[in-house]
Amino acid sequence: MGQDELIDYLVEKNILDSSSVEIRTLSGGVSSEILLIDDGNKRFVLKRALAKLKVKDDWFANVKRNHIEQKYIRYVADFLPETVPAIHYSDEDHHFFCMEMLENGLTNWKELLLNKQIDIGYAKTAGKIMGTIHNKSAGDPTVEKDFETLANFHELRIEPYLITTGKLHSDLKAYFYEEAKRLASVKKCLVHGDFSPKNILVGPDRFVLLDCEVAWYGDPIFDLAFFLNHFLLKALYAPEMVKEFIELAKVTLKSYKIHSGNIFDEKFGARLVHLLLLLMLARVDGKSPVEYLNPGQQQKVRDFVYQELSNGTRNFEVLTTKWSETV
Ligand SMILES: Nc1ncnc2c1ncn2[C@@H]1O[C@H](COP(=O)(O)OP(=O)(O)O)[C@@H](O)[C@H]1O
Ligand SMILES: [Mg+2]
Repeated sequence: MGQDELIDYLVEKNILDSSSVEIRTLSGGVSSEILLIDDGNKRFVLKRALAKLKVKDDWFANVKRNHIEQKYIRYVADFLPETVPAIHYSDEDHHFFCMEMLENGLTNWKELLLNKQIDIGYAKTAGKIMGTIHNKSAGDPTVEKDFETLANFHELRIEPYLITTGKLHSDLKAYFYEEAKRLASVKKCLVHGDFSPKNILVGPDRFVLLDCEVAWYGDPIFDLAFFLNHFLLKALYAPEMVKEFIELAKVTLKSYKIHSGNIFDEKFGARLVHLLLLLMLARVDGKSPVEYLNPGQQQKVRDFVYQELSNGTRNFEVLTTKWSETV
């Protein structure tokens, strides 16, 4: 369906009152289309899998991702309703869903961080939400069955981050490949897979998690390492704020520990630090590097990761102290 057809279809289904609408594209992603649609009466965001892809297999992968995202939103809405966008309408045949437009004082957290606006309260909430979702889903066979999405997680996370970086850094290859193998073997709880400030909208009354296409029943350490990595790299981007960014990471971790129940076992901390080091390098030399580090800063990450992997650093306090001295 083209956009005009889509609008007519939404009117037919009574989702819209009129086909005279204002449409704004919220993101020009490669795999999905996100549209803000407003007919003067009804206003929502529509996310659908894009059909225009190189190969047919990609299209099927995309459709599946749209469904995974909806499933994750519905699962979390059950016990943390304010934490995800409300789904207004879901279309199985055309692989899209309509959700509430999140506005009224909500801002993308990544924007705030890049403007060096630090709010410790958001870190506390992030740790709480992540811990709660992990804890709630842990050991639940129904959730495990619903999110048997390792192939998708492999394609979008393990391969582009770990395998790619390992191939580039042959001296570290074993670390990356071993971690890839370890991750793929874990089935502990529901993982968001893209838990990152850019996918979180924050405001005084609400904290909303978006973009759940990579959700997977797997290793909780991935979410936490992936998320904390953003704070460590932002400390390098704005070294004058290193204390504040490290504090955000520490507060998140502390809050996560409180809310994640038995998930945080005795091996968790050490594995977290190890994966965090690998992801730091992956965010410089993998397929999805952060855009805000200059070549000198990127080299600092490489040197740091090489050094700390060979030191065998597995303690979060030690890691953050050394990183503070490095940036
Ligand atoms: N329901 C919504 N209300 C308001 N903004 C949204 C909504 N859904 C997505 N967005 C905005 O669009 C951006 C991209 O959406 P996202 O689901 O993260 O897709 P992508 O896969 O393109 O990253 C988000 O970062 C957010 O700023
Ligand atoms: Mg996103």
